[in-house]
Amino acid sequence: MVKSRIRAAGATKSFLGRNCVESSEMSTGRLVVGVTGASGAIYAQRFLMRAAGHFDEISLIMSEQAFQVAETELGISISREVWDTSTWLGRSYPNIKLLGSKNYFTPPASGSYRHDGMVIVPCSMGSAGRIAHGISDDLLTRSADVCLKEGRKLILVPREMPWNLIMLRNLTQLAEAGATIMPACPAWYHQPKTLEDLADTVVSRILQNLGIDQSLMKEWMVDPQTES
Ligand SMILES: Cc1cc2nc3c(=O)[nH]c(=O)nc-3n(C[C@H](O)[C@H](O)[C@H](O)COP(=O)(O)O)c2cc1C
Repeated sequence: MVKSRIRAAGATKSFLGRNCVESSEMSTGRLVVGVTGASGAIYAQRFLMRAAGHFDEISLIMSEQAFQVAETELGISISREVWDTSTWLGRSYPNIKLLGSKNYFTPPASGSYRHDGMVIVPCSMGSAGRIAHGISDDLLTRSADVCLKEGRKLILVPREMPWNLIMLRNLTQLAEAGATIMPACPAWYHQPKTLEDLADTVVSRILQNLGIDQSLMKEWMVDPQTES
């Protein structure tokens, strides 16, 4: 049962008290995932593979640049025209549906479509800036806009270095509006052996933040044997 593994689907209270979906709300089993042209296609890849096991329905929105960056970084050939999850994720995931990046005649474009939240991984500074300023000029930014206006969980995984003042202000504004900013900063304290392990240190924290009981990374200093 997919939904039983999701502990708390709703957004937590932002520090301004807005965008609060109570954690007691029932999970819809639906997730919206945005992938942009920031570096870090491996995060999107690893996240989707995991999230597909927890959600009944994943609406995937990829920017044009996301395809190009994924091809460059992962050495794969993926395109919107010939879309197949197995090319990118190793096997077919029928519950992941790719939506047109300009197609507003799709569920996440409207607040009436209930879902458990949206994750943008990786998130470019361009997309972050557009969302921060309400410029919903494609389905990805519109869906994020909808999350903020409906008080739904919105997780951004930005990747850029260094951040200029405009980027920092945009991310602050997004946090103030209720988004959760989870920068693609891998952790080393679990001594990752492979690139996949390293990427999973980020992926596991996103899953955790969505309220999912994940097994990718152990909780720090918790012995699973002694846990009931
Ligand atoms: C190989 C490659 C890596 C990139 N990495 C980043 C990055 O880490 N962060 C970022 O903000 N932009 C990055 N960019 C630039 C974005 O792809 C570009 O700003 C694009 O317009 C973002 O559009 P999107 O948000 O609609 O995907 C990269 C571009 C390329 C070609």
